[in-house]
Amino acid sequence: MNRRKFLKSVLFFLGSTALVSFVYPLVRFLEPPGSGAQGGKTIVKRAEIPVSASKNIVVNNTPAIIINVPDKGFIALSKVCTHLGCLVEYDKPGKRLLCPCHAGAFSLTGNVLSGPPPKPLQKYTLKVEGEDIVIG
Ligand code: FES
Repeated sequence: MNRRKFLKSVLFFLGSTALVSFVYPLVRFLEPPGSGAQGGKTIVKRAEIPVSASKNIVVNNTPAIIINVPDKGFIALSKVCTHLGCLVEYDKPGKRLLCPCHAGAFSLTGNVLSGPPPKPLQKYTLKVEGEDIVIG
């Protein structure tokens, strides 16, 4: 292999690597969120979440939370704040969900109570089947 061929091979390799490193994130960004290996159901045991307790789960690759709301039963909400995407936390004493980034507050049904979030948290459908809670 002469010097010219070697340099061409190196440039081809570097160019290919740069192209792949640019195209792959672009394709992942443009891919619709519902595609791929998503759409599965998340199953949690009822006994794991007594009244007023919560459990962090993942639904379709999104952080979510199940709360056993007194007198209302189980509710499953996305933990992704609708303002800028920080993860909300369950404030059990205050009976609400709080966003640590800009003090957004949500009710236990996901509605905005205060702060900058423009819309409610995404709510997931769930079914109680025997001892299981099936989300999604
Ligand atoms: S990201 Fe939640 S209030 Fe701003």
